[in-house]
Amino acid sequence: MLRTHTCGELRLSDKDSQVTLCGWVQRVRDKGAMVWIDLRDRYGITQLMLDNSSGEALLETARSLGREFVIEAKGKVIERASKNNKIPTGEIEIFVGELNILNPAKLPPFLIEDETDGGDDLRMKYRYLDLRRNPIREALRLRHKVAQSARRFLDEQDFIEVETPVLIKSTPEGARDFLVPSRMNPGEVYALPQSPQTFKQLLMVSGFDRYYQIVKCFRDEDLRADRQPEFTQIDCEMSFIEQEDIINTFEGLVKRIFKEVKGVDMTEEFPRMDYDTAMALYGSDKPDIRFGMTFVELNDVAQNKGFKVFDDAELVVAICAEGCADYTRKQLDGLTNFVKKPQIGAKGLVYVKCNEDGSFKSSVDKFYSQEDLKAWADKANAKPGDLLLVLSGDKDHTRNCMNELRLEMGNQLGLRDKETFACLWVTDFPLLEWDEDSKRYHAMHHPFTSPHKEDIPKLDSDPGAVRANAYDLAINGVEVGGGSIRIHDKSTQELMFKHLGFTDEEAKEQFGFLMEAFEFGAPPHGGIAFGFDRLCSLLGGSDSIRDFIAFPKNNSGRDVMIDAPSKPSKEQMNELSLEIKALKLEEAK
Ligand code: AMO
Repeated sequence: MLRTHTCGELRLSDKDSQVTLCGWVQRVRDKGAMVWIDLRDRYGITQLMLDNSSGEALLETARSLGREFVIEAKGKVIERASKNNKIPTGEIEIFVGELNILNPAKLPPFLIEDETDGGDDLRMKYRYLDLRRNPIREALRLRHKVAQSARRFLDEQDFIEVETPVLIKSTPEGARDFLVPSRMNPGEVYALPQSPQTFKQLLMVSGFDRYYQIVKCFRDEDLRADRQPEFTQIDCEMSFIEQEDIINTFEGLVKRIFKEVKGVDMTEEFPRMDYDTAMALYGSDKPDIRFGMTFVELNDVAQNKGFKVFDDAELVVAICAEGCADYTRKQLDGLTNFVKKPQIGAKGLVYVKCNEDGSFKSSVDKFYSQEDLKAWADKANAKPGDLLLVLSGDKDHTRNCMNELRLEMGNQLGLRDKETFACLWVTDFPLLEWDEDSKRYHAMHHPFTSPHKEDIPKLDSDPGAVRANAYDLAINGVEVGGGSIRIHDKSTQELMFKHLGFTDEEAKEQFGFLMEAFEFGAPPHGGIAFGFDRLCSLLGGSDSIRDFIAFPKNNSGRDVMIDAPSKPSKEQMNELSLEIKALKLEEAK
């Protein structure tokens, strides 16, 4: 070892020891007669000190050090004259006897400090420098802890970690595939797994009984703060179980992780809510239940009073913001502009102020009497001092808009504390989802999800009403995990493919291997996958999963550090029997 101790280790009890430390120069303070150096490594910072008695040569070396130089310092641990109680090593410093520069460093393009001056692009380009900063290192340490905690729990429960292949055939998780051309099979491609879904089911057919894997998944979809093209799942599957067993087992996993990583005791059972209720009360299949402000439908009291916008609407829905009747014109305009943003797309916002004197003031006073507005307030349980916010229109869209508005109000009123964690199982998702573009049904989860037995007859008569044995775990409004009980017999799986618009040939071509496996004794099985990056960012109190990924991609799916993706060479293209349209166009120019 080049060092005797790390930079976070030495204390007053080590006084007078001779030590050797190695690390990066955080900063140098030169006060003429004395020079101090803050030396940093992963474990902390230790102060080095030199004075006139150190000798001119040594002082010269110290003064020549720049930020981020890698050095080795030998010396004696002494008690500091002025102590720094902000860091664990703050009572001591090293009186340096020997100083060696192991490697000089160019001036870093941004400050390697907790609060840096580096913008996002710059930090991503030099991500290896960004990773030297405490907040990012701590985020990755948290990620490590979550992984260890999950592995311990799952191992105790007899789950076996099995790796599944990365070069596979398309798995239908609803996103676009990343494709990898095959050199040895010209004109053919592998798909990268959107998840190991089919493999984990095959492992159940193989009798593995309990499988897990902390695994990379790849989805070519538009990116957001909580979406990366490659992300990690804690992927799990079990045999001979029912939905209740999965929920219990994995509630245990989540509770263990929160306890071990955050010290949070989740003693209560997680509440459950079916999909229909979640949509009606929160307009979301992943409700943030840290706060109430649930939806109140006003159709029966707000329609047929001559206000055409409401009369023509499929849904008139309100939320009650407690104590917000004093919202100013400007604040209300701000909320109207918020819901009218193109990403949200409401046409307008109606408000009703419930004044302290029992009267009401609304933006639709022309159409509604005080009695009318009182009826709305009563329905919404609004008290004097509260503010009703009302949206109307097509049901799904209006619920969507109201969900955004509710979350915004939650933010404005400080009801979304990052250190409060509200877990919710959302169950009974619809099996199928109508897609207007392709004019056909899609599987809401994936085509291997089993329908509720009693709903199977509805597959022909009312496909949209068939409920799935599927469940999601939402924490603080984030979809952290999702899974289902699977179809495990060939005939139901065939029925499902038929309803998804696959011809027999297409189903056989894509999933013949799974259908065949079901003929060799497939046990009843089901599972779940957690978004590992999302779980970490929740635990770490961040909205962005990128902070918890060592080398993330930017919003255009680029790794700006290694500059990927990049153009293939002519040789590579020839080997892969490929021609790329975009490159041909470029050449033609
Ligand atoms: P699902 O598609 O719901 O289920 O994915 C499981 C969880 O993975 C996370 N997730 C993502 N995280 C970051 N970036 C992304 N692009 C991304 N996409 C999904 C979410 C999500 O809840 N095979 C099924 C699981 C099963 O049925 O067992 C599956 O992949 O947190």
